[in-house]
Amino acid sequence: MRALCWHGKEDVRVDTVPDPTIEDPRDAIVKITATAICGSDLHLYDGYMPTMEKGDVLGHEAMGEVVEVGSAVTNLKRGDRVVVPFTISCGECWFCQRGLFSLCDTSNPNAAMAAKVMGHSPAGLFGFSHMLGGFAGGQAEYLRVPFADVGPIKVPENLTDEQVLFLSDIFPTGYMAAVNAEIEPGDTVAVWGCGPVAQFVIQSAWMLGAGRVIAIDRVVERLAMAESQGKAETINYEETDVYDRLMEMTNDRGPDRCIDAVGGEAHASGIGGAYDKIKQKVRLETDRPHVLREAIRCCRKGGTLSIPGAYIGFADKIPVGAIMNKALTIKTGQTHVQRYTAPLLAKVAAGEIDPSFVITHRVSLDEGPAMYKTFRDKEDGCIKVVLKP
Ligand SMILES: NC(=O)c1ccc[n+]([C@@H]2O[C@H](COP(=O)([O-])OP(=O)(O)OC[C@H]3O[C@@H](n4cnc5c(N)ncnc54)[C@H](O)[C@@H]3O)[C@@H](O)[C@H]2O)c1
Ligand SMILES: [Zn+2]
Ligand SMILES: [Zn+2]
Repeated sequence: MRALCWHGKEDVRVDTVPDPTIEDPRDAIVKITATAICGSDLHLYDGYMPTMEKGDVLGHEAMGEVVEVGSAVTNLKRGDRVVVPFTISCGECWFCQRGLFSLCDTSNPNAAMAAKVMGHSPAGLFGFSHMLGGFAGGQAEYLRVPFADVGPIKVPENLTDEQVLFLSDIFPTGYMAAVNAEIEPGDTVAVWGCGPVAQFVIQSAWMLGAGRVIAIDRVVERLAMAESQGKAETINYEETDVYDRLMEMTNDRGPDRCIDAVGGEAHASGIGGAYDKIKQKVRLETDRPHVLREAIRCCRKGGTLSIPGAYIGFADKIPVGAIMNKALTIKTGQTHVQRYTAPLLAKVAAGEIDPSFVITHRVSLDEGPAMYKTFRDKEDGCIKVVLKP
């Protein structure tokens, strides 16, 4: 089959690789009809994620048609149309039983590698390094789905691929970020980033009762989408000091809930930005936590900081004194996708939201390598890319 494969920093290629096969009775094989490039894939593309190997098949946002099921998969059959969560979860362990699917204790065969760095291993993820399982990803013609009796969700025929594809990741991710922010009715919610994840954070913040949503970025078309689709007020961080503006907008109290939908590749200018760039270059820091620092500084006393943005390893100069003295709550995590797929599919089916609004580019697998660059560099108005293998 054809697949997008990682070959190193800024080197994605369309390779011909062996077709996946059933390896376990709980596996299914899905023929991919739509798959997307995510901000998380950029951490691999930019070379920041350790334990990638040349030839690894990329992609963790995928959907398609079931073409084969293992003997233990009784809930799916050939021909079913499914969306596949990016988190691989057994459904049976202590964590899965509690709905903490991204913390599954059994799905990462290389758990020891992750535990060495982090103390414990999260779940295995599709297309996301060997430390997180070494599973082939979904930017391909076919995908092997482990624990297929737990993860994939069947979707009704009247909804298009583009309407349901993002149930694989960014819609649940935005929604969980808003849940984690502990939004109370009328709260002011500030969202750093206006990328695809942030767009779903904004939508979800309203669903959970926010009174005001303020979104921060510098990419004009992303800010425009946050305003038009998300009905958010916006701040362009290149034109305005974010702290000053947020204080002005909230009578100096600060936003009640702050959501970092940027992660460890934040841009920053000035001394702080240079500091992180240098430390990252000499490998004394894996992440550039500018947004994290800024959100901690801006958040109102006793407020909540929710972090869906991905961090990989170690970061510096986190104002832990401010976290403690301002009594902030911090919640984060890879998304427990399986917990949200059914309720969010119900919202799509009911017409409450059409997630396809974020898509700006629709391309074939062959155009994938070029689209990684276009998406990373925010060229051509690119906000979200869908590949149709
Ligand atoms: N928790 C999860 O399970 C999960 C799932 C999906 C994605 N993610 C992570 O969410 C993050 C966002 O994903 P995405 O697909 O939207 O990525 P993206 O790269 O398209 O968007 C990030 C946005 O942040 C903006 N940005 C950069 N520096 C900023 C700053 N200082 N202030 C404000 N905005 C700034 C960029 O201009 C960009 O628009 C990534 O880190 C991704 O890895 C996490
Ligand atoms: Zn993703
Ligand atoms: Zn589990």
